[in-house]
Amino acid sequence: MAKNQVALGPTGRPDLVIPAPQKLSQHGPARIIAMCNQKGGVGKTTTTINLGAALARYGRRVLIVDFDPQGAATAGLGVQAHDVPTIYDLMLSKVKDPREVIQHTDTNHLDVIPANIDLSAAEVHLVTEVAREQILAGVLRKISSEYDVILIDCQPSLGLLTVNALTASHGVLIPLACEFFALRGVALLIETIEKVKDRLNPQIELDGIIATMYDARTLHAREVLERVVDTFDDKVFDTVIARTVKLPDASVAAKSILDYAPTNPASEAYLKLAREVVQRGVVA
Ligand SMILES: Nc1ncnc2c1ncn2[C@@H]1O[C@H](COP(=O)(O)OP(=O)(O)OP(=O)(O)O)[C@@H](O)[C@H]1O
Ligand SMILES: [Mg+2]
Repeated sequence: MAKNQVALGPTGRPDLVIPAPQKLSQHGPARIIAMCNQKGGVGKTTTTINLGAALARYGRRVLIVDFDPQGAATAGLGVQAHDVPTIYDLMLSKVKDPREVIQHTDTNHLDVIPANIDLSAAEVHLVTEVAREQILAGVLRKISSEYDVILIDCQPSLGLLTVNALTASHGVLIPLACEFFALRGVALLIETIEKVKDRLNPQIELDGIIATMYDARTLHAREVLERVVDTFDDKVFDTVIARTVKLPDASVAAKSILDYAPTNPASEAYLKLAREVVQRGVVA
């Protein structure tokens, strides 16, 4: 009798079916996750939006914190960031209650705290603050019980804002683009996470690495992914996000991929990532 052949996924591990997560009977407190990589353009914002939308589809209450002055997550979620209070106002205590800043998106159960260019001034203002690394943690503490997961879309830097994100978080997810120099800088990022763990936030852990922009047709992308898996082993999610123009298109349309192109493989990829995130216990 022929043995059952198990297909291998792009990470070289068996490509197993991941079941849909169980419904939650109650909500909160949130697991707070920093989406972090100081390298630019690796898919942090795209993954924050679409993983958030996918978790919301599975009934999780999701809050995205746009923590980049570029405001890409805010724009990508179709939310207004001008002449409204933003994360900057919360960080500087100009607004005390995060509920006055949170906006609903078109996706059920998916909310956002917007950002705009004002946030670029925050680092300068915060330098002289007492406990300047803990300010975001203090903001999120006020609303954590109302969500199941809070995803912080970090800017591409390891400055004070990112340190605030790491100090506020239970875990870190690192999106890595499968291209040249993917691993460059990751050692420094992990060193920064370790420092934050030692000095500011003993509970923080690396929840995993998400390979993005994978093009299975190129030997190069396959080699990069192989190196990433060699280096980080089972920290690398089985779910790999392929390169597709539908993802930038969805951002331009200010929609999640689930709404913009529900039948596109990228939509299933982000749903699968959400299932894996729950299966691994990263999120309840
Ligand atoms: N899987 C993908 N396939 C093709 N394009 C993608 C994919 N993921 C993201 N992109 C596009 O690549 C660009 C960078 O992605 P994104 O903004 O998510 O990265 P980022 O890490 O948040 O960047 P930054 O460091 O500037 O904040 C965007 O134009 C985005 O639409
Ligand atoms: Mg971004």
